Amino acid sequence: MTDTSTIAASELSEDQAKAELARLGFEIGFHNKAYFQNDKPEISDADYDQLRRRNTEIEARFPALKRADSPSERVGAPVADGFAKIRHSRPMLSLGNAFDDADVVDFLAGIRRFLRLPDDAPVAIVAEPKIDGLSATLRYENGVFVEGATRGDGEVGEDITTNLRTIADIPQSIENSPDILEIRGEVFMSHAAFAELNRQQLTAERAEYANPRNAAAGSLRQLDAAITASRQLSFRAYAWGEVSALPSTTHAGVLAAMKGWGFQVQAHEICLDAAQMTAYHAAMEAGRGDMPYDIDGIVYKVDRLDWQDRLGAASRSPRWAIAHKFAAEQAQTLVNGIDIQVGRTGKLTPVARLQPVTVGGVVVSNATLHNEDYIKEKDIREGATVLVQRAGDVIPQVLEVVMPGPKPFRFPTACPACGANAVREEGEVDWRCGGGLTCEAQAVERLRHFVSRNAFDIEGLGEKQIRAFFEAGVVGAPADVFTLRAQDGTEGRKPLREWEGWGETSAENLFAAIEERRDIALDRLIFALGIRHIGQGNAKLLARRYESKEKFEDAVFADDLQELLDIDGIGEKVARALLAFFADDHNKSVWTALVEELRVQDMARADTTSPLVGKTLVFTGTLEKTSRAEAKVRAEALGAKVSGSVSQKTDMVIAGAAAGSKLKKAESLGVKVIDEAEWLALIGAPASNMGEEPS
Ligand code: IVH
Repeated sequence: MTDTSTIAASELSEDQAKAELARLGFEIGFHNKAYFQNDKPEISDADYDQLRRRNTEIEARFPALKRADSPSERVGAPVADGFAKIRHSRPMLSLGNAFDDADVVDFLAGIRRFLRLPDDAPVAIVAEPKIDGLSATLRYENGVFVEGATRGDGEVGEDITTNLRTIADIPQSIENSPDILEIRGEVFMSHAAFAELNRQQLTAERAEYANPRNAAAGSLRQLDAAITASRQLSFRAYAWGEVSALPSTTHAGVLAAMKGWGFQVQAHEICLDAAQMTAYHAAMEAGRGDMPYDIDGIVYKVDRLDWQDRLGAASRSPRWAIAHKFAAEQAQTLVNGIDIQVGRTGKLTPVARLQPVTVGGVVVSNATLHNEDYIKEKDIREGATVLVQRAGDVIPQVLEVVMPGPKPFRFPTACPACGANAVREEGEVDWRCGGGLTCEAQAVERLRHFVSRNAFDIEGLGEKQIRAFFEAGVVGAPADVFTLRAQDGTEGRKPLREWEGWGETSAENLFAAIEERRDIALDRLIFALGIRHIGQGNAKLLARRYESKEKFEDAVFADDLQELLDIDGIGEKVARALLAFFADDHNKSVWTALVEELRVQDMARADTTSPLVGKTLVFTGTLEKTSRAEAKVRAEALGAKVSGSVSQKTDMVIAGAAAGSKLKKAESLGVKVIDEAEWLALIGAPASNMGEEPS
């Protein structure tokens, strides 16, 4: 069979076109899911656009072959599970693309033709930056924010009302608005907020987000809105859905009204011809690096609303608007070398050392190569010239090889740090150092994790100090941190105050900071061990289940897999990793030596007499006496589970002021609904005491 993907659209036979449309449908569907549902795009926007364009081209040549499920008929991806669904009152459309100035001229000409205007008739166009985030729709009824949703597939989105309420740019209520008002716009993360979030992810040993868009998506689509609240998201309004009475006859006029209602609206410009439009595009593209957030193009919209109405929409995008994309920020450079980094669990991560190059205003000198398969697939070699792209902000990617290097890269089969054999298990993408506890690189990484912020969090003991202590042989295992003071200056050891960079005060401060951490919560202790797959969440589940260090020890030393699997939320991979860790004699002695130095606090016992034990609750609407986050903590302390969406499994809905779709859903399912006062009574909190500052 011939490979139809390499044949130009204009050359395809009908049979080939059919095969090609099927392939494109599958591929576009796959990438839609990766981008919209999993927030993990696998190809560049440009490559994605290319696939869509090819699909459209082939459909234009063979209209009869257009499939009912053609990607050109659909926007985005179907809604993900976990959120309630909301049908949009008016579809949320996407935009067609213009890739160059000629496309802009065509866009204007098409509008004039459609409206039967003379070729030189002025058509006022609103031009504004296209923000690289996620679109959302906000519904206000009588000035109160009642419901908000993602775009989803354009017809049905996800109910993210609770999450949207945590965004400062989104007013909870507005004055002098039409009775029904749906505002549409973009949720995104600024560069500053993105950098801060990734800094936190790093200290917490969680994966960094690849770019602000993914970070915004990951932050917004959280079933736990408290997480959304902890992320700094922004919102800019640029369009609308159902509105009972429009405040203006022009697009710019409505934008001005939105501003008056309290929404943030981007600076925009009115252009009167294609030359002005492309000049605005060029100026913004040159200055995009100075914007506080990522923009990936310019959106042009016909200003007159009566014209917008007449123009209407083709299948997935309006005829009255178009997105003029910017070229991706890319550059070519040389791969000077490929290094292998050793992580705390022995994972070997290849990193390209690049000849420093400026990409969109930022100097790039490293790029992660992820794993062996990534290198093989792209055939990245030392000495190759590669095309790099700054995906969003920080983590640069190698897009493709422009000129191959002399010889294929051979992934090492031994750990570059300790020389032990490396292994790549079947079904795994990563190679791991088999040196285990004898590998120094792993040991240092583990210690670094041990003292990191969400683990022991010892002030003054960061990566640099840990490395120095390790190299000097004074800290080899976690327990050694807690004997530092007792051992200081003994057995011919030089006292810390005499070390370079240290003095009497700094040494004493460090010892004091270490003392303070002898009291440690059980979940932090479990997390600090750095066991594979046991992050903060799983550590908490384990600590909650076992409550004390003693019971936890009994369980892990008993080597009873089933018992661990019975914990809600603990899966087989995690349970096995935990047991494997404690089955190792060395690890066992590391643990014993460590806990001897500590006073491990028991986990607060869930109150089993509470009527809420095991119940699933949903909070909706605005709570007035407490924050949503506090209510959730209280509910969980009483043994309840808090969920973000109402279903058959919901035991009770607590409806605050202006509750919307979830309340409706609860009522239709016959789920018990109580108001805030009843909730406070139920948990035994006098309403007057909640939410006030302690005196
Ligand atoms: S207008 C019916 N304006 O780009 C027209 N969209 O590729 C509605 N976007 O779905 C969209 N900035 O998520 C418009 N200033 C802007 C935008 C913008 C970003 C997004 C939006 C839309 C997508 C289309």
